[in-house]
Amino acid sequence: MRNKIVFFLNGTKEEVGSEHAGLMLSDYLRLKKNLTGTKVVCAEGDCGACSVLRYFPHKQTTEEGTYLPINSCITLVANLDGSSLVTVEALKEDDKFHVSQKAMIECHGSQCGFCTPGFVIALSGLVEKKISENKCSLNSQEAKNALTGNLCRCTGYEPIINSALNMDLKSASSLKNRYFSKQQEQELKKTTDESVKIEGSDFSYFAPKTLNEALDYLKQYPQARITGATTDLGVVHNKRKIQLNHVLSLHLIENSYKIEKNGDEITIGARVTLSDFRSFMKIHLPEMAHYLDIFASPQIKNLATVVGNVANASPIGDTPPALLALRGRVVINGSKEIPLEKFFKGYRQTALGQGEIITAIKMTLPKKNADLRFYKNSNRKDLDISAINLAIHTEWKNEEKTEIKDIIIAAGGVAAIPMRMVKTEDFFKQNNDLKGALSILHQEFNPLSDLRASAAYRHVLVENFIKRFFAECGGLQ
Ligand SMILES: Cc1cc2nc3c(=O)[nH]c(=O)nc-3n(C[C@H](O)[C@H](O)[C@H](O)COP(=O)(O)OP(=O)(O)OC[C@H]3O[C@@H](n4cnc5c(N)ncnc54)[C@H](O)[C@@H]3O)c2cc1C
Ligand code: FES
Ligand code: FES
Repeated sequence: MRNKIVFFLNGTKEEVGSEHAGLMLSDYLRLKKNLTGTKVVCAEGDCGACSVLRYFPHKQTTEEGTYLPINSCITLVANLDGSSLVTVEALKEDDKFHVSQKAMIECHGSQCGFCTPGFVIALSGLVEKKISENKCSLNSQEAKNALTGNLCRCTGYEPIINSALNMDLKSASSLKNRYFSKQQEQELKKTTDESVKIEGSDFSYFAPKTLNEALDYLKQYPQARITGATTDLGVVHNKRKIQLNHVLSLHLIENSYKIEKNGDEITIGARVTLSDFRSFMKIHLPEMAHYLDIFASPQIKNLATVVGNVANASPIGDTPPALLALRGRVVINGSKEIPLEKFFKGYRQTALGQGEIITAIKMTLPKKNADLRFYKNSNRKDLDISAINLAIHTEWKNEEKTEIKDIIIAAGGVAAIPMRMVKTEDFFKQNNDLKGALSILHQEFNPLSDLRASAAYRHVLVENFIKRFFAECGGLQ
């Protein structure tokens, strides 16, 4: 059993105990390591100024298998155990700028000193991805996607996008080659074969190797908070609404990274990130991958877990309606299964009991004759929380799509929980009548008016998404 977190920072081994393991990484870098190139502006994961690159070799499912950008302002140092990190200070090689830095200088992409390091890190992550894919070109959509997690308050995006497009990928050298040797890999493997327990006066942390150890720990310390990647918890912690001072992490449990397909059933382990989920679904359900493109930013998706999104039980979380439409089930303590519609109990309340851990989420892929769509409306297209999200899954009795065999309509932003529109579903199944169903629909939910949308607007959105679904799939016309 270790009592220290181990990771590599710009190629140098760091061992961190109770004194600093409970800090957010950005504070550790700036205040303890004097690496002030990493900036903190929003401290909420929104602006990307704090971006650093992280590679986590312990996980075997990562498609890219290389350094990915993450937000250091909402990431606990403890949760970086087993990682290799690269900060903006380490991009330059001797006196030679990294291709991302060179392009930013040449295309006048460098504007204020707060956002530029984050943009450079996001671009360097894109370069690493291209190197790992053995590709030397990129298009403007790829450049924009890679930059969705970085805000520039002076709105000078054009030169930054030009910088991305002008990076000389042919001459780029791999950060992985520079900062992650075979020897470091073996060293991290050896350390992550052991669990970690830190017991300090201000910060306690346990990362076990097995589920049983995790469950025993929760019995002993019911107050310990289970963390995924802290992309939700870190924001609330930074706002001082909670304190992450007693933490249980599942990051060393091998099985928790599993994402697999068995027949038409998909199982998503507790530590599967949204990026890994997206890559997997691109093969098995492209509609889901497409929907996840407008979930947060690359920095968030590279860390945040699908299970965290469900457990967080936000009424406007983006995966719950989609998972409800795919007959999602929550797997608890490795054995008990609860249908997702029974999991959400009230505003941010779930059926998860004390001492229980979500070990996986299961879902069933749609049948061949089914139509499935996911919709999201938010004030800003990228990196914004939904006003309404909605998923519809319909199986048809006939090829003409005039008779519905089964239908699931699930929505977020309509009530205190993500919910299924059960009465509307029943009406559809009995009457195959869109107009009639829409009149039932509006009696079924009573949304709030808030800064994202008024109740009236939410009603219009839900109705329009349903109409759009039938127009897109050519059913009930
Ligand atoms: C800038 C920004 C943008 C975002 N954009 C979106 C968006 O577009 N759509 C969206 O839906 N969300 C969004 N989020 C919210 C957040 O990223 C997601 O909810 C994410 O999936 C949470 O996962 P996590 O691993 O970080 O969870 P954490 O923050 O670690 O945990 C969240 C909750 O889940 C619990 N938990 C985690 N794992 C387990 C487990 N195994 N068993 C039991 N409980 C567990 C924790 O105790 C906590 O209550 C955004 C957040 C930020 C900061
Ligand atoms: S400081 Fe804004 S995302 Fe971290
Ligand atoms: S680059 Fe910082 S505000 Fe535009």
